[in-house]
Parts: sequence; C-alpha cells; structure tokens
Amino acid sequence: MSVRRLDPNQPESFAFTPDNQSWAEATIAKYPEGKQSSAVIPLLWRAQEQCDGWVPEPAIRVVSDMLDMAYIRVYEVATFYTMFQLSPVGRKAHIQVCGTTPCMLRGAEDLRRVCQARIALHPHQLSEDGEFSWEEVECLGACVNAPMVQIWQDTYEDLTAERLEEIIVAFARGEGDTIKPGPQIDRHFSAPEGGPTTLQAYTTPHVAISVTEDVLVAETVETDAGETRHALAETIQTDATAETEDVADEVEEAIVEPDTTSPDAQSLDKSTVEPDGDSADDGEGDRPLGLDGPRDGIADNLKLISGVGPKLEGILNELGIYHFEQVASWTAENATWVDNFLSFKGRIEREEWITQAEQLANGEKTEFAKRVDAGEVESSQDNESED
Ligand code: FES
Repeated sequence: MSVRRLDPNQPESFAFTPDNQSWAEATIAKYPEGKQSSAVIPLLWRAQEQCDGWVPEPAIRVVSDMLDMAYIRVYEVATFYTMFQLSPVGRKAHIQVCGTTPCMLRGAEDLRRVCQARIALHPHQLSEDGEFSWEEVECLGACVNAPMVQIWQDTYEDLTAERLEEIIVAFARGEGDTIKPGPQIDRHFSAPEGGPTTLQAYTTPHVAISVTEDVLVAETVETDAGETRHALAETIQTDATAETEDVADEVEEAIVEPDTTSPDAQSLDKSTVEPDGDSADDGEGDRPLGLDGPRDGIADNLKLISGVGPKLEGILNELGIYHFEQVASWTAENATWVDNFLSFKGRIEREEWITQAEQLANGEKTEFAKRVDAGEVESSQDNESED
C-alpha cells in the first residue's frame, strides 16, 4: 500500500458552498452536545465531493474548525481511510486496486501492471490527459471474488488483466455505467463459479423457514423441492425493507403451500387427514383430538399465539382445533404430530405454543397477544395473509 500523504500542490483556501455549508451545519446538529466530532467523516466526504474527488489540506482545516477538533485529529482520519483521496484523481475514474493477500495471490499484480501501463507508472499520479488515476489499497472486502478493484463506489470482481483493460476503455469512452459491477465471470454474488457446488446430491431436502416474532430460522426438512428454498430466499431478498411480520407472513404462506410431490404433504381438507391418531407423515406422535366446530360457534383467536397467522389458524381449525385450552392440553406427542403435519420440525416447542395457550386459556394476556390486540402485528391480521 502506498504511503498516504497530502498532495504537495494545495489550493490557497477552501470553503463549503452555501448549500454544502447548510448541509454540514444540519449534519453537525444531529449529534448530541459534545459529540460533534462524530460528523468528521460525513463532512470530509462532502468536502471531497465538492473538490472533484479529493480532500485538499485547507478543507481539513475548515472541517477541524467546524467541529472544534485539533487539525491533527482530522488529518489522521483523512489519511487513515482510503476512501479519502489526498491528491487530485482522474476525472473519469480513480481505480483502487486491492493488494492484500487473497487478491495478490489471484492476480492483483497483473491488475496493477495494467494500471501502470494504461494510466501512470506511479499510484496517485494522473494520466497524461488527467482522466484516470490509480492506487493500491488494502482489502476492500470482496476477497472471495479476488482479484478486484473499486472505481468510485462500485467494485469489479473476478478480474483478469484483459477484463480490467476493457473496463478502463469503457470508462474512457464515458460508458462506465454499461459495465455491471460485481463479479465479471459466471458467478452470482459470492456463490461458486458456474453455480452451486454443494447440496447437489440431495434429492429431497429443502429449506423451510420457521418464523418467530422477530427471528427467521432456516432448517432442513424432509420434503421435496429445492425450488422452494430458492423461492423463500427470493421472498426475503425482495422484501428486505418490509416489516419482519410482513416477511414472516409471506414465508409462512410459502411453507404451507401444499406440495403435491411429497407423500406427507396432505391436502388440508380434513377428510384426507387420518383420524386415527397416526402421524401425518412418519407415524410419530399422536394427533390431538379435534372438535367438529367451535364451542357455541365462537372460536378463540388463535392468532394471539406467537407464530400463528391467519393461514395457520385456518389449518388448525381444519384439524378441529379452535380453542386455547385445546392447544394447552396437548401432550408432547400431540405437539410432535402437529409439528410433523405442518413440517415445522420443532417450531411448536421453540415458540412455546403450549405455554402461551395455557396463559391465554387462563385469561392472561401475553406480551405478544397485547401487540396483536393493539394491531401492531401485521402478520396476525386476517386481511394480511389470506389468499
Ligand atoms: S483481499 Fe482483496 S478484497 Fe480482500
């Protein structure tokens, strides 16, 4: 890694533009009294953006004064982090080549040679036309796809010298945005090249996701459909910004979708559930006694049990379970049977359905039930997950 020093050629002065000054003052005001120095990185970053990609020494002084910090403290920050440039950088691209061990072992020296040949011999030296510059930096956190470079805020991984040359040409033509960041080979994010190489021998398992109030738990279950696993992963990825309950609800629905390829995936129609106490799939556990219908025609709101949404409540009703006291009276064998029937693999015990049901049957309100009553648990609302 190159030595990080201030550029010998510095402007006379620095001042934030009026807009940036207002932004900086608002940013500083976000921090509690006495902690204003915490704004040092955002202010330096804004100064760098204002100065075409580098932080001049006068900007360091201005930021220090605004934050009432010693100049040396801000200088230390600016020189420590390679996100801050201390010399002018190329107008079209500043290429940061990772030179840490994994990248070095996988060809970082070839990438550095490309930079030296196409840009400038030395790091932090501008190309003749001023459009490019490069430097060597320490690990940028994409080691699994080594070797790699970072250009502005994107990383380009699994590089060869040839591919880096193509990328530089694209940036030179002003077409940098046509290059997709990330792996430059047949690799999905950090997955193995060419696709998955593990779990290929499995013919039956898939991952089911059991959803607790705040935690997603993945586990392998003995049913068909590798597809299901991908579908669930997709659900979580695409809903990363959703409330946990929203994700939980979708996952719950995905789990209980009837799987016609699996012998244990019985229809939810009660007529297909063996009423003789056998397990739904492998003979383990005893089916709990069910009722023909709710007593006095009024069922308990089973969704007050954490982990039970509208869909599961419907399934429990199909099994003849309508009341808290029924769940509270389940034996371990009953719980095992229901666990197997729902392919839960321990969810009932993990979420303490029986304990919750006992409390609810005694008229006590669990913390979760209070939240449901207050309308704070979306996944427990009927209109949220019914098909
Ligand atoms: S070693 Fe290069 S990204 Fe980590």
